[in-house]
Amino acid sequence: MLKKIIIEKIKKCGAISFEDFMEMALYFPELGYYTRADIKIGRQGDFFTASHLSSVFGFLLSKEVENVYQNLNCPQDFTVTEIGPGMGYLAKDILDEISIPLKYNLVEINPSLKDLQQQNLKQHSDKTQWVNSIEDLEPFTGVFICNEVFDALPVRCFEISESEEIMEVYVDFKDYELIEVLLPCRKNTLQYIEEFAPWVLKIKGYRSEVNLKMKSLIEILSKKLKKGFVLIIDYGYNCQEYYHPERKKGTLLCYYKHSITENPYINIGNQDITAHVNFTALEKWAKQAGFKVEGHLSQSKFFLSLCDEAVLREIYQKNLIQHFKRLVLPQGMGESHRVMILSKNLDSHFR
Ligand SMILES: C[S@@+](CC[C@H](N)C(=O)[O-])C[C@H]1O[C@@H](n2cnc3c(N)ncnc32)[C@H](O)[C@@H]1O
Repeated sequence: MLKKIIIEKIKKCGAISFEDFMEMALYFPELGYYTRADIKIGRQGDFFTASHLSSVFGFLLSKEVENVYQNLNCPQDFTVTEIGPGMGYLAKDILDEISIPLKYNLVEINPSLKDLQQQNLKQHSDKTQWVNSIEDLEPFTGVFICNEVFDALPVRCFEISESEEIMEVYVDFKDYELIEVLLPCRKNTLQYIEEFAPWVLKIKGYRSEVNLKMKSLIEILSKKLKKGFVLIIDYGYNCQEYYHPERKKGTLLCYYKHSITENPYINIGNQDITAHVNFTALEKWAKQAGFKVEGHLSQSKFFLSLCDEAVLREIYQKNLIQHFKRLVLPQGMGESHRVMILSKNLDSHFR
């Protein structure tokens, strides 16, 4: 069905950019991967995120939210806003744990996920509130939480041709199958490559992604945050690692029933499509949007920094040590995932 709609669009407008294809595959109303009614994240779905593995993720983040609250001098209207809250497990684990007064906003674009989140958060109905889009948020003081949100933004794909031309990947169709065509690169795609990955321009056949949607997302987060923090947790690299000459095929991956494929043109609307985050670009755009970068570290270092003796004791008492290890060990999510902490309009230093 979604494939047919994409083909109809191509018939009407000509080949569409990979970014537009990914936008439709993930977010086309009611048929995209993140907008369809029967989306499932976790064991019965296509992929796991940390909050689906264990409550230790929310338990530890609740400690960071408390730090943030103290740092902001315990404001009366302290608000946590989570973007794309999945099944609502992270919100639940934070609210189960935390004792400070707060309001918790959940920004959810999918009505079915919103229903699931409301069920999972029934006992916290006095604190929780839902909005359909970031645009609908009232500016607030507090903290934004974005767990694995930036990797779900539609990306552009580029490829260096045999004649060292920089081409952008577009999607066309032939015999009712979607196919790729390479067309001259758009100006802002090229500017991005020249800025963050100039060394790949001469590598014939080199292919990777450009995520320009991150810029608008970080800008709107800044617009909605009067004072406070943004916590971004995601898998990604700095630009040297991301665009390493040996990473010739980029980072684009698809998840379908817990198996990984590299073909975004199958299972359209039924499989997740994702690309790693270029944290160098994110850092630059965050600063331009008015944020200060308070920290940018591996998930391992971030969570270990929250663990004093009392926290570790609680992790043992709650019997969560195995899950904790998975969050922090390099062979788990400790090194693949990074945490960026941004602040805005602080009166004093953080930490
Ligand atoms: C990979 S899922 C992660 C879900 C959840 N945070 C978790 O960790 O399980 C990415 C989520 O981000 C959401 N998302 C991406 N861009 C968004 C935006 N601009 N506003 C609201 N949600 C967004 C998607 O709809 C999707 O639910």
